[in-house]
Amino acid sequence: MAAKITEVRSQKPEARSQNIFTLFSVLCLLSSVLWCLILAPMLVSADSEMKGGYRNDYLPRGIVPKHEMDKAENWIAIFEHSKRDEWQEPDKVIEKMNLKDGDVIADIGAGSGYFTRRFAMAVGLTGKAYGVDIEPELVKYMGDDAQKLNLKNYIPRLATMADSGLDPGSVDVVFICLTYHHIEDRINYMNKLKKILKKGGRVVIVAFYKKKMDFGPPPDNKISEEVTIEEMKEAGYHLTKRLDFLRYQYFLEFEPVENQPQTYTD
Ligand SMILES: C[S@@+](CC[C@H](N)C(=O)[O-])C[C@H]1O[C@@H](n2cnc3c(N)ncnc32)[C@H](O)[C@@H]1O
Repeated sequence: MAAKITEVRSQKPEARSQNIFTLFSVLCLLSSVLWCLILAPMLVSADSEMKGGYRNDYLPRGIVPKHEMDKAENWIAIFEHSKRDEWQEPDKVIEKMNLKDGDVIADIGAGSGYFTRRFAMAVGLTGKAYGVDIEPELVKYMGDDAQKLNLKNYIPRLATMADSGLDPGSVDVVFICLTYHHIEDRINYMNKLKKILKKGGRVVIVAFYKKKMDFGPPPDNKISEEVTIEEMKEAGYHLTKRLDFLRYQYFLEFEPVENQPQTYTD
């Protein structure tokens, strides 16, 4: 080693600076490899975990989502995120629902009205779109939104966890997007919900597939397609449509089984 040092010291100044440059380049290369292989993946996974499984670029900075609606403005930012249209494909969802002019839609768990305002436009002035939610701040947001858009048929409604509060026989289509799993006592709720449907009415449920994906909530917060179909059957509906055109979500449509007695409890 001493011989080597002497050797370096005895080198000409140009040769020495050449060696120092090579050593510096090797160190830079090593630190890049270390960053790519070890540190970067650690940071990315910590970030994903913090955001509860949502894709990193999807949440506004600093938001830590919880399942409860603790801060309405955070959730509004998520529901209305500019990238949502890419995977949610709201126009295609509405096209598959075959809505008619004059239809009355109840968007149960409407959130910020992401779908409700589109329904109001799709059913025309003779139709209605109710944005039903249990969170007063979200209902207020929808009210302001309806006013801003000057949509008189976009009607926000505050509901309770157990009851939509809509009139019996008043709705053509119930729409439930990313909300089915939030509902408590689902079979009873869905059974009771038949009461608000007009004759020939239907229910559309859109929800994330219950599998590990690069996007969306973790599997534990989701209900599989099969379980949803089973529960709806128990609540007195039969499946009329099952579509898989969305990248991350299933689309199911149900109609009440005719003449089946309603067995819900209030
Ligand atoms: C994940 S958000 C979905 C919002 C909206 N459907 C969308 O796709 O943007 C779920 C919403 O359901 C509401 N919610 C939960 N349980 C409900 C119930 N029993 N009745 C009505 N709304 C409910 C929550 O307050 C929340 O706004």
